[in-house]
Amino acid sequence: MMAAQGEGGAVAFQLEAWSRIRLERVERALELWITADAPAGSGHAAPAALVEAMRYSVLDGGKRLRPLLVLAAHEAVAASTEVGAAAALRAACAVELIHAYSLVHDDMPCMDNDVLRRGKPTVHVRFGEASALLAGDALQALAFELLTPEDGSVECATQARLCSLLARAAGSSGMAGGQAIDLASVGHKLTESELREMHQLKTGALLQGSVLMGAHCGHPSAQALAALSDYGAAIGLAFQVVDDILDVTADSSTLGKTAGKDADNDKPTYVSLMGLARSQSYAQDLLAQAHQALQRSGLAHTGALSALADMVVNRAS
Ligand code: IPE
Ligand code: IPE
Ligand code: MG
Ligand code: MG
Ligand code: MG
Repeated sequence: MMAAQGEGGAVAFQLEAWSRIRLERVERALELWITADAPAGSGHAAPAALVEAMRYSVLDGGKRLRPLLVLAAHEAVAASTEVGAAAALRAACAVELIHAYSLVHDDMPCMDNDVLRRGKPTVHVRFGEASALLAGDALQALAFELLTPEDGSVECATQARLCSLLARAAGSSGMAGGQAIDLASVGHKLTESELREMHQLKTGALLQGSVLMGAHCGHPSAQALAALSDYGAAIGLAFQVVDDILDVTADSSTLGKTAGKDADNDKPTYVSLMGLARSQSYAQDLLAQAHQALQRSGLAHTGALSALADMVVNRAS
């Protein structure tokens, strides 16, 4: 249904049609879950101003790549899209909340000092630094709240697995650790392996985590899990290599964030280390590695994952 005959008789996956339905589902869920309503049993509603900053940080903007990866990995692994669907939707939203929080903090004056994000003024510009800090904190907590519903819709073992994967992807050995290396590296020339490590942590970990969380909403075989982990690692690193490239090649209105910031902030990037052409060909190598990983997964329905990998590397924003 989501496939069409392409050139040479190859069957091309219709990513746009596939994504549209899933993106609507994710947007609806995020809209519903980022609310001032008191959590069941607490009796305390959240302060309206904090919730406003949280909603501003997350809603209406962003490519939603990480949620799409969660859902695609779930669908690749699950015997039917119904099994584990509630967990997968929660995982998709949780990962996007962590990502949104990382962007809010990344843009603050003490980090990258950016004023534009997703085509809008950054959260600290709009609401002030303290509110941006707290909105990020609260989004991180909400992510874990989403993964631990008390209505029986997600098995306890799955809840624990998802929390563990997300915590590891976001924490000091994942995104936050990578961000620490990024800040400590300003003005320094890193070796290729140091730069790779930084990118794997600050960006790769959460993308790989998205794939693994989606897979764990189904019941993956060891073979599928190992291959999906490799797929996630390849596109995770590729994503940040392309982010470095776009910082140089794209304009601010296309990106929805300030172009040229990496050079302005004296950040080590793939472009500064190896130049534009070699960075582009490295991204293509990583894309090939991602496709090879899918081929050895033993999974039949990897069309969405494959098309998302292409999108990661060939995107314009
Ligand atoms: C930007 O991520 C930050 C990085 C990890 C490079 P995205 O490019 O996925 O940002 P949105 O979610 O589409 O705004
Ligand atoms: C950010 O990397 C990675 C995060 C964990 C947020 P960048 O600093 O390059 O992201 P952009 O370019 O501001 O989106
Ligand atoms: Mg940064
Ligand atoms: Mg930044
Ligand atoms: Mg960047």
